Amino acid sequence: MIDLAEVQTFGVDHFTTRKPVPPARLDTLSREILALKQKLNAVILAHNYQVAEIQDLADFVGDSLGLSQQAAKTSADVIVFCGVHFMAETAKILNPGKIVILPDRDAGCSLEESCPAAKLAQLQATNPNFYTVTYINCSAEVKALSDVICTSGNAVKIVQAAPPERDLLFVPDENLGAWVMEQTGRPMTLWRGNCYAHVEFTHASIVRIRQEFPDAPIVAHPECTKAVRLLADEICSTEKMVAFCKSSPARHFIIATEAGMLHRLQRECPDKRFIPAPTDHCKCNECRFMKMNTLEKLHDCMANLAPRVELSSEIIARARAPIQRMLEISARPVENAG
Ligand code: 13P
Ligand code: SF4
Repeated sequence: MIDLAEVQTFGVDHFTTRKPVPPARLDTLSREILALKQKLNAVILAHNYQVAEIQDLADFVGDSLGLSQQAAKTSADVIVFCGVHFMAETAKILNPGKIVILPDRDAGCSLEESCPAAKLAQLQATNPNFYTVTYINCSAEVKALSDVICTSGNAVKIVQAAPPERDLLFVPDENLGAWVMEQTGRPMTLWRGNCYAHVEFTHASIVRIRQEFPDAPIVAHPECTKAVRLLADEICSTEKMVAFCKSSPARHFIIATEAGMLHRLQRECPDKRFIPAPTDHCKCNECRFMKMNTLEKLHDCMANLAPRVELSSEIIARARAPIQRMLEISARPVENAG
């Protein structure tokens, strides 16, 4: 077993292969980014998996649901989205009149890749009674084919609110879908996609870390496989991880999700300690797409107002309805969700 005193020395930077930005460069870039933000009347939204230096500069750091809610209500002229492409696209769908930029246009997602719109349309055509519940990790074209969008933070509530007479089709994450079926008891046809990063956690890798820290609750994202979820004490979205760790009496936690989450958790709970769950190959797990964004690229996208998210008005109109349905259901009090 590892001495808990040793855990005190753990920090996100121990678990990354990226070169740290030298402090002087960090200072200059940060100052310039803040000046650009003021000049552009911009808001910087950052996902919980972003590198520490981006999280520290952002106006809002959160999960996919929180970021969509922020994007829906912002009064800024420019939305700078530090996350992956589908998240910036969602912000554009909710704000067609605003400029939406992102540090790296190539920051994709394995779930989005797994579900091309044409293939989804083919499957939908096999059953006219399908009601398509789509995880937000997908393209705008797939959103446009959906009845309602969900995030990991509201998927249970969204499925509970789905019309009882319809056959549910859940796309594109089979692990999140399987977990939602367990939670709601509602059968669903599942698309066979997964998050390449979360499926790297294995039953064996989690058992090993639990043996080292037997008292630490295991907090896992629902994109993990069932073999991992079975070992978890709490399964939730990244934002709910913050609430769980804050309210739990435990002093240390094993976190089975992307390693950027540890920075957010450590900021929110400075007196607690967070241990990244390992994979079979590595002490932690990073999403290569989320980590494409750097402070330099954030600076450059604001200086150049590019890359920008551009979508046709037809796709925006069709994709917006299921996102707005999600936001509306998500805002309902729990007892009226159905
Ligand atoms: P959250 O909505 O829980 O932040 O998840 C987003 C994601 O991409 C997880 O891999
Ligand atoms: Fe997509 Fe997985 Fe990266 Fe999240 S962690 S953005 S689901 S590839």
